[in-house]
Amino acid sequence: MYRLIYVSRSTKPMTNDDLKAIERSAVRFNSGVDITGALFFGKGRFLQVLEGKEKTVEALYQHLHEDPRHTDLVCISRASTNVRLFQNWNMGVFNLETENAAIDVERLADLANAATLNDNTEKAYLDIVEFIEDFRQQVCSV
Ligand SMILES: Cc1cc2nc3c(=O)[nH]c(=O)nc-3n(C[C@H](O)[C@H](O)[C@H](O)COP(=O)(O)O)c2cc1C
Repeated sequence: MYRLIYVSRSTKPMTNDDLKAIERSAVRFNSGVDITGALFFGKGRFLQVLEGKEKTVEALYQHLHEDPRHTDLVCISRASTNVRLFQNWNMGVFNLETENAAIDVERLADLANAATLNDNTEKAYLDIVEFIEDFRQQVCSV
């Protein structure tokens, strides 16, 4: 099992319908190749967690670079792991601008911006892991 976390920047404002369209194609493809994960959106930033077989995850990540809906992809972490953080989602898509008020949309934007600036990647990684853990506690009740 392998997990890749990255941030990116949307190339245009994203509506709920835009995110639903991404979710539909993601769930369709990911369920066929046993990829799980979560995609957070807010303030023009994406944060995505991809979990599955290393080759499958890396191939999808390469494919995602070609999607014109986002740019400036920055990988935060790639690591082997024994556990899935988002086992119930072939891709859970969360628009922090309209839902999950418990998770502050500013926090996502700050994290993504810090990670993209690249001055302290270790801290950016730890902050993002904390964000994901807080989200799981509040939304996944684990
Ligand atoms: C931020 C973002 C995350 C995405 N996540 C996934 C994903 O997890 N799985 C997936 O199959 N497609 C995902 N997509 C959509 C793919 O980029 C692409 O549109 C889809 O795989 C269809 O590819 P095709 O148009 O080459 O057939 C995502 C797109 C964006 C913008």
